Parts: sequence; structure tokens; C-alpha cells
Amino acid sequence: MSDEIPMDRHMYRLTCVNCGETYQPDEIIYTCRKCGHLLTVDYDLDSLVINCEIWEDRPLSVWRYRELLPVTIPPITLQEGGTPLYHLERLGREIGLPHLYAKHEGMNPSGSFKDRGMTVGVSMALQLGKTTVACASTGNTSASLAAYAAKAGIPAVVLLPAGKVALGKVAQALMHGAKVISIRGNFDRALEMVQELCISHGLYLLNSINPFRLEGQKTIGFEALDQLGLVPDRFVLPVGNAGNISAVYKGLRELLALGYIDRLPMMTGIQAEGSSPVVRAIRAGLPEVIPETKPETVATAIRIGAPVNAEKALTAIRSTGGTAESVTDGEILAMQRDLARKEGIGVEPASAASVAGVKKLVEAGIIDPSERIVCVVTGHLLKDPETVIKQCEPPVEIDADLQSLLSALHYY
Ligand SMILES: Cc1ncc(COP(=O)(O)O)c(C=O)c1O
Ligand SMILES: [Zn+2]
Repeated sequence: MSDEIPMDRHMYRLTCVNCGETYQPDEIIYTCRKCGHLLTVDYDLDSLVINCEIWEDRPLSVWRYRELLPVTIPPITLQEGGTPLYHLERLGREIGLPHLYAKHEGMNPSGSFKDRGMTVGVSMALQLGKTTVACASTGNTSASLAAYAAKAGIPAVVLLPAGKVALGKVAQALMHGAKVISIRGNFDRALEMVQELCISHGLYLLNSINPFRLEGQKTIGFEALDQLGLVPDRFVLPVGNAGNISAVYKGLRELLALGYIDRLPMMTGIQAEGSSPVVRAIRAGLPEVIPETKPETVATAIRIGAPVNAEKALTAIRSTGGTAESVTDGEILAMQRDLARKEGIGVEPASAASVAGVKKLVEAGIIDPSERIVCVVTGHLLKDPETVIKQCEPPVEIDADLQSLLSALHYY
């Protein structure tokens, strides 16, 4: 007889991505006890009866897809998801891609895709009986966790790398009432510390190592497919801890297994040049990433040297024939401006990396002009006002009279 954990009434269990060991869905566990690798939420897709037509009758949102989510209690929600998918007509023409789209995750309640993960993650915390939540963060995770913990009425503890988090994100975490701790070290160290804290003191860890959080994030892919009405050739995401690219891939694989789609898009990850361990591993054909000890980039959201989900992301990229590319800070900022000025889409630097990467891959002949591509732009422009202000001319200050106004507008 097999000693595998049977699927419970929610029809899922936790499975190790490396050795296949299985765990009860209500066990508080983040990595495999046998081998230390990551866990994934593993549904009994054969027994799941989902009628896709039910989905079409519900509003576009994370919870449209609730049959493929692990939450069985009424969820903690701020109405996340349902973000716009924009056709980048002008930019696409310039780059040479008539079918280029951007899924604007900055339009979520706290201004980033993290809200999709947190609505599920914080709901799971309550479902599992946990009363305090915690995370390490490059900023957006902390802003989102703080908001969802506030909605749930439970305390949140967030650890940030001191001096390396964009202003808007710190402001959010503080205003939503999280206990905000800045550590003198980088994100990778903050993550190690919060993991130790959660294990020793029973806080519920909501970094992307938590497999339930990624369940919420996979709905980016579901929504994009519903909005396009077909499977794109490629999904392109900025990669930091590599959770989001892994999540979207996992969700699409579930749709494939359920027979709702007949192929997978090429999963493509973009990193900042000064922080690109996944890109190096893909280029060199390595079985795992070699962490970078001193990651650096203007895109602080993806300033991560040791991505915890690298193992899942390498599989996502390799098994779909995708790729990984790095872009310089200059290319990131130029694309942030282009998105803002040519498409009216305001994103933070990390988000612009996905589109900057596409441009580079087209120029290198790796992306074919006929491809239909969805770039995930992950966070809102207002998250990082300081980087924006540094790039733009300051406003012209004038005396309050019409003559001064006309001479300030002399070029008109
Ligand atoms: C705006 C933004 N983009 C991209 C990422 C990277 O996502 P992941 O860590 O899941 O790779 C993050 C993570 O913090 C982010 O905040
Ligand atoms: Zn294992």
C-alpha cells in the first residue's frame, strides 16, 4: 500500500517538487522535510469537476477561478485581479511586434501583483488557524501583506533591506499598520531571518516560498488567456525571487492537464544585469542557480541574488522552450519612460524590465515578430516616485501671472 497522503476534501495536498514526498494540506510546512526542496499545491485534477462556463459568468478576478484555489473559507479580499490587458500598439510597432500586450498588475489594490498571492495567502493563514503573518520584502510584498493583514484584522511583521526599498512601498507598509523592521543587510539575508523567526515563533510565513501564495498569483495567466481568448505564444515576466514566473507556469499546466488549452506558452524571465542568477543558469545550462552575493540594480523589487523559487523557474523556462535575458538599468529606465509616454502605462522599474527584455530578444532575433506576447508589468509607477523624479525635468516654477506663463510655454 502506498504511504502517499490522500487528497483531502479540498482535493489537494502538498508535494515536494524534488523527491515527490507528500504532505497534508493543513500542515504548516514550507519546504520538504526529507530533502529541503520546495513544495507545490498538487490538485487531484482527475476528480476536480470544473465547468469553465461558470468562470465566464463571474467577474474577472482572482476568485473567478476558486475551484483551482486552496481556500475553503470566505476569503480575505480587497477585490484583487481583473487587471487590464493592454495592446501595446505604438510600442509594438516600434519594436516590430504587432501582437504585444501588457498585463498591468500595478492596477491591483495595493499596486502590485502581490495582492493576488496575499488574498490567498492571508486567507490560508486564517484557514490554518494562524494569527500573525510575516514576510521579508523588497517592498511590494510588505505593502500587500500589510494591507491584507489589516483587512483580516491580524498583525503583520515585515523585514526590509535598510535603505533599499522604494518610498511608496515603505509608506504603504507603515500606513497599513505592519510592524516594519529594516535590517542592515540585503533581501536574501532578510528572508533567511524571517524564515528562522517564523519557524521558531510560529508566525505564518508569506514569502513566495509559501506554496499557497503562488496559487493566487497563477491567476495572472488565467486572466490573460480569458482576456485574449487564446493562448499567447509567450509570457514574459520580470524575475526576482522567481515565484511569479513559476506560479503562472503552474497554473497554465493545470489548464493543460484539464484539457482547457492544448499548448503552453514559452515562459520567459527577465532580470536586471546586476542581479541575474537565473539568466546565468539558463545560459550555462546549469541544473541550479549560483547565487549572487552582491546583487545591485535600480529596479529594487528584483534586487535578489538567491531566488528561492529558482528551481521551479528553471523548469518553467526549460520545459516550455522559453528563455531568460538580462537588461541594464539604462534599458529598464528607458522602457519605463517609453511605456509611460508612448502608451500611457505607468509602471515601476522592475516591471519595465519585462518589456525591455522583449525588445532586446527581438533585436537578437530570438523572438519572432509574428509572436503574440503577454508581458506582465508587475507594479505601479507611484511605488517608486524617487526614481521617477530623478529621471524627469523638474516642474518649471513661475510667478503667478499670465505673462510668466506664456514665456514659460515659449515653445508653444
Ligand atoms: C514589481 C515587482 N516585479 C517583479 C518582482 C519579482 O517577482 P518574483 O520575486 O516573484 O520573481 C517583484 C517582487 O518583489 C516585484 O515587486
Ligand atoms: Zn523532498
